[in-house]
Amino acid sequence: MKTDFRCVNKREARIDAAEKVTGKVKFAADLNFGSQMYAQTVYSRFPHAKIMNIDTGAAEAMQGVVMVMTAKDIPGPNLLFGRFPVLAEEEVKYIGDGVAVVAAESMDIAKEAADLVKVTYREIKESVFSLEDALKEGAPLVHEDEKGNIIENTHYRMRAGDVEKGFAEADVVLERRYWTHFVDQAYIEPEAVIALPDSYRVGVEIHGSIQNPYSIQQNVADILGMKINRVKVIQSTIGGSFGGKDESVMLMAARTAVMAMKTGRPVKMVLTREESFLESCKRHPHLMHYKIGAKKDGTITAVEDRIDVQGGAYNNKAMFLNWRGSVHAAGTYYIPNVKTDVYGVYTHTIYGGAYRGFSAPQIVFGNESLIDELAYELGITPKEIRLKNCLKPGDELATGQILEPGKIPAPLTEMIEDVCLRVDFDGKWIRYQEENRSDNHIKRGIGLSCTFRGTGLGGEGIDTAGATVTIIKDGSVIIQSGLTEMGQGMRTAHAQVVAEVLGISLGRITFLNTDTTAVMDGGPTVASRGLLAGGNAMLIAADKLKKRIHSEAAQALGCKPENLESRNDLIFKKDDESVSITFEEMVRKCIFQQGLSLSAQGWHNPGPEKLSHETGRGNCYPSYIYGVCAAEVTVDTETGKVDVERITAAYEVGRAINPQIVESQMYGGMLQGMGFCIMEELKEEEGYLKTLNYDNYLIPGIGDMPEIEVILYESDDNVGPFGAKGVGEISVELPAPAIANAVFHGTGRRVRDLPLNLERVLLGKAL
Ligand code: MOS
Repeated sequence: MKTDFRCVNKREARIDAAEKVTGKVKFAADLNFGSQMYAQTVYSRFPHAKIMNIDTGAAEAMQGVVMVMTAKDIPGPNLLFGRFPVLAEEEVKYIGDGVAVVAAESMDIAKEAADLVKVTYREIKESVFSLEDALKEGAPLVHEDEKGNIIENTHYRMRAGDVEKGFAEADVVLERRYWTHFVDQAYIEPEAVIALPDSYRVGVEIHGSIQNPYSIQQNVADILGMKINRVKVIQSTIGGSFGGKDESVMLMAARTAVMAMKTGRPVKMVLTREESFLESCKRHPHLMHYKIGAKKDGTITAVEDRIDVQGGAYNNKAMFLNWRGSVHAAGTYYIPNVKTDVYGVYTHTIYGGAYRGFSAPQIVFGNESLIDELAYELGITPKEIRLKNCLKPGDELATGQILEPGKIPAPLTEMIEDVCLRVDFDGKWIRYQEENRSDNHIKRGIGLSCTFRGTGLGGEGIDTAGATVTIIKDGSVIIQSGLTEMGQGMRTAHAQVVAEVLGISLGRITFLNTDTTAVMDGGPTVASRGLLAGGNAMLIAADKLKKRIHSEAAQALGCKPENLESRNDLIFKKDDESVSITFEEMVRKCIFQQGLSLSAQGWHNPGPEKLSHETGRGNCYPSYIYGVCAAEVTVDTETGKVDVERITAAYEVGRAINPQIVESQMYGGMLQGMGFCIMEELKEEEGYLKTLNYDNYLIPGIGDMPEIEVILYESDDNVGPFGAKGVGEISVELPAPAIANAVFHGTGRRVRDLPLNLERVLLGKAL
């Protein structure tokens, strides 16, 4: 394995750390433009109602109000991607629908005027608020043209072998139902967007806490009835997103852009935390029906599952998310016979969207609970069943793809054994069971979970990405990417890639905020692809410049370009390091003596994956990353309270470009995974969202952090820069099933619905 790196694979400090910790950096809500107005959305009062009339008169008459916008003011079609209206016109379909927006001279005036907008509704009682309701025969339809409330283009299948034959060969067949709930991404910074008329031409400029600037750009252009080149989107420094700042900021950008174009003034919209809870996407609830068969010796013979995914009132993610779900539904095991069907479903509720993991945390909770249940049924340990069936080098996935040794690593066996050894799984497995026989109401348990995750978009789309690297005459460097920083550390990782290629120090590099006019659209920053695809684009751009510089340096140093190396801000002869020239001097020569451009674009294009969306068969992802974890819990059987004491997890990540950032990703993700499992719960009643702030939406804080040990496995994979594979999401997947499995080990109570709240743990079954 390659280890000879200068900047990559090192624990460098984040390049944007100082400006953030000193408070110098401006977030979107901190930005202000001259003559700016403040906008307040008027939200629906019902989860499902006809809009009979909107009377804006009183609001418009108020001093300081500049404009009250309704759907009628939208120049283009009132339709954003995923069937979201910019503002509801005839009907509200969920409690977060906007019906009007007020723009005023101050926020106070805007809020006061919003209360004066009189909307007359006729409530519609025929509604569907849960997956079960929506799927009932003859259920009321959320969108009249969608049969059975199944969302268009969201049914994905996976077919391998013959499940009937597989179940016939089994000695044990289990059927189980699991359910996961809506959870919020809980980013520190609520959404903020400012739209202003372009100062120099007809068009609009948008700044905001935006995860995916290019999709905002396109959606805003559509609803303005403009070409995309009239819309410029600049990502502000962003305080977390985790997939979440997408649909809500799309709505905000569309509303403020319309008002900015109509009034000729900047319009600023900042959500309160309550509005963010109400209007932003959540993790999609998954209702999972699994059937699994195995032989007495533990060999799994077949898995069949149907998974229904709650989309909510609108949907712009399930058509991507469900594909990932269908590839991973059978879990991280070699199973010859698989039949999977995943569907997206509309409901009159808050809606599902991207949240770190993108279906995997839900599905891994289902299939890793299932594997545990199967082990108990067979009388073998959770470790044994996993070791027996886990994917091994050369195995075929349900998709038909082979984990070819030397191409795609498959180190699960080693990882399971390593984690189990470190935590003394075998010892604790027996010891806790013996101790738990006492009368003590505090029980201890240990549980395992495994996962694997396709890298990047795979068959979801083409994993393209763009980057620009510009070396300036003083030897400083600007890098720009079409992908965005959200707090994950991408800027630093990209800079490390560029520094490694150019052989320069990290301090030379500055990373500009993503701007849709600077780099070509290579797709969104999702699917843990910021470094995988975006880093490859950086590598390509930096490599072009290195070649350009080396060909000039070869003349200066009197050798061939291939005999040169760049390192420590120097360019020198490989066979005689005393012959060298500084990076800065070479830059000056290239620019001033040769007139060369030291700016280069990098474009990464792996091409489409070869697969069939009909059967799910094919090479769904270029590679996979792997995780194994053990969770240790104590459970108070009198109160139902679960305390996670310790999580030990191993991850195979290809190359850790910055091991410290990778570890941070794992700690943070595992804490989110723990919150998903035992703490976070959005309460809804008949379509009304009751949980709107952190007073009753409990997320883990630092005090709840268990002891966490992360073990990184590295390999020379071939998909990302220097073998990196993308680590943003996998960490969220493991805790929920490992904790639920540990709770079962400790108490004999199997909880199949999330979260494992006090009631569910006390009763030991789904409520
Ligand atoms: Mo992400 S959950 O792929 O934005």
